[in-house]
Amino acid sequence: MPGSSSPVQFKTIEYDTQTNKIVILDQTRLPNEEIYVRLENVDDVYHAIKDMQVRGAPLIGVTAAYGVVLAAASGNREAVMKAADYLNKARPTAVNLSWAIERMKTRVSRAKDLSAELLEEARMIEREDQQACLRIGELGAGLITGDSKIMVHCNAGALATSGIGTALGIIYRAQQNGKKFVVYSSETRPLLQGARLTSWELTKNGIETFTICDNMVATFMPDISLVLVGADRIANNGDVANKIGTRGLAIIAQYYNVPFYVAAPLSTFDFALTSGKQIPIEERHEDEIRKFHDACIVASSAKICNPAFDVTPAELITGIVTEKFIVTPPYSENIRKLQ
Ligand code: MRU
Repeated sequence: MPGSSSPVQFKTIEYDTQTNKIVILDQTRLPNEEIYVRLENVDDVYHAIKDMQVRGAPLIGVTAAYGVVLAAASGNREAVMKAADYLNKARPTAVNLSWAIERMKTRVSRAKDLSAELLEEARMIEREDQQACLRIGELGAGLITGDSKIMVHCNAGALATSGIGTALGIIYRAQQNGKKFVVYSSETRPLLQGARLTSWELTKNGIETFTICDNMVATFMPDISLVLVGADRIANNGDVANKIGTRGLAIIAQYYNVPFYVAAPLSTFDFALTSGKQIPIEERHEDEIRKFHDACIVASSAKICNPAFDVTPAELITGIVTEKFIVTPPYSENIRKLQ
């Protein structure tokens, strides 16, 4: 549980050193139940990521890092490497997963005391994530002026990280600075991260939040002061992969001249990619769309498309708030300065 001065009074993940297990807040149960579950082995961790009990790019990375720690109990370096590769396959789009796994693998190959050193590395990844969120919050809070209306999409909050969140971290920091604003959160079909998760954490923290359906975005946009979203992978040219629907939001924001900002830590940049076209987009199971609470809501004869992410072209993005600085165009030139 973060300290009482933290704007976030819940913890998404904790490594329990008494039992050597991972404890996570099960996000599939929110907003109705705040349930913490134990991940006992690498398989549990793989499924928690794949089935989105934990989700959000930075939190996926932190969870996978602790998953590698669980594998170290075997004491067998080769088995740990294999487990790391397995975890890396849980979800394809958020680069934070492979970034964290690569760090853990490098440590595996050098470690003398496997368990202790891997736990140290995972803790470092978690701490760095928390620090990055705080810094993003500080830098981004300046973008929020008084009496604003902020639109967000999906959940790029404390629930998506081990800290105060990225896009929502900015909102928490602005609140601490005494700024007055309200938030419009799009519900984010099909898994409703905006409706279920963002509305839960923002209202828990006393932030006035209106949840709107995804198809209401264009209706509300003319009155919006600023759009703030997270990211799952950012290419060198500034193209940003984020939750499906982000690109539509950016197109509408540009039409109405509303500034569109992305908030993301350095661990979300994929410096190996020259363009967003190279970002792998996760296709999820058709039942996420076909069914609602187990009831079929789509004609069984209809086919389903379910890409979980889209890519927003750099030219629609006003700036990217990182823990180092707010990156603005020209992105190809300025993203290089982050390395
Ligand atoms: O499928 P999800 O819920 O993992 O998608 C999450 C998002 O798209 C977030 O906006 C992104 O990971 C940034 S989280 C700080």
